[in-house]
Amino acid sequence: MSAKATKSATAPRRVSGTDGETAAGAEVDGIAKAAILPRSPHGGRAILRGPHCRALSADALASEGINETLSIAAATEADLAAVAQLAGVVWRRHYPGIITPEQIEYMLGLGYSHEALRRFVVNDGAGLDLAHIGDRLVGFGAYYPVDGTREIKLDKLYVHQDYQGRGVGRRLIASAESVARARSCTALILNVNKHNSQAIRTYERYGFSVREAVVVDIGGGFLMDDYVMAKPL
Ligand SMILES: CC(C)(COP(=O)(O)OP(=O)(O)OC[C@H]1O[C@@H](n2cnc3c(N)ncnc32)[C@H](O)[C@@H]1OP(=O)(O)O)[C@@H](O)C(=O)NCCC(=O)NCCS
Repeated sequence: MSAKATKSATAPRRVSGTDGETAAGAEVDGIAKAAILPRSPHGGRAILRGPHCRALSADALASEGINETLSIAAATEADLAAVAQLAGVVWRRHYPGIITPEQIEYMLGLGYSHEALRRFVVNDGAGLDLAHIGDRLVGFGAYYPVDGTREIKLDKLYVHQDYQGRGVGRRLIASAESVARARSCTALILNVNKHNSQAIRTYERYGFSVREAVVVDIGGGFLMDDYVMAKPL
């Protein structure tokens, strides 16, 4: 089922790590130190239950030592500022050492303006899914159909550092994948920087493999030195 069908969140929501407020009440380097989602004793997979499960029951989570639920829901225009804010937090922490600070700011401007994000909300076949733990925005995934193919491109996938390695990314991918399967697409594809080894390893765990290497001119004097990875469906 598409996450678009499950939009239910109307209450005011917070962006993880950007409001100076945390579950534990502590903040380090501008990043909230969350305490609400401890790693599972069996390897940090506590909240992953597959694409058919939109959110675990409070009882199931409590048995894992987790006291708030993960939910995946489609974004609306009202969510876009929060998505851009979360992207800023994740990018400025993750990409130094992979691309220059100048390129980070350039790409944030390019990919996270209201107009750029709005396309995923309004364009036919595109989607922007949000991952919340309780009322906290902890991640997002965005995708669109590639013209002239039967493939869907996962254009963005980001999870706040305090929540990585706990299955949030897997649930976001599963959401895009279920949309792609429902449309009889043949593959889910994405671009990833060649030096982003953490993400490459993660995508391999998700079933992606490298299809080709590309260098993309994104303007402003910047290039993206990427792998295209694909997961056949
Ligand atoms: C890449 C990313 C989206 C993955 O999301 P995630 O919620 O951290 O990943 P998951 O918890 O679903 O983990 C998937 C697999 O990768 C491994 N993994 C990924 N990140 C990890 C981390 N920080 N710590 C431990 N394990 C990690 C897990 O072992 C897991 O494998 P398993 O399910 O077989 O145990 C997220 O880590 C992220 O935002 N990274 C920084 C930004 C980035 O590079 N985004 C991708 C741009 S193309």
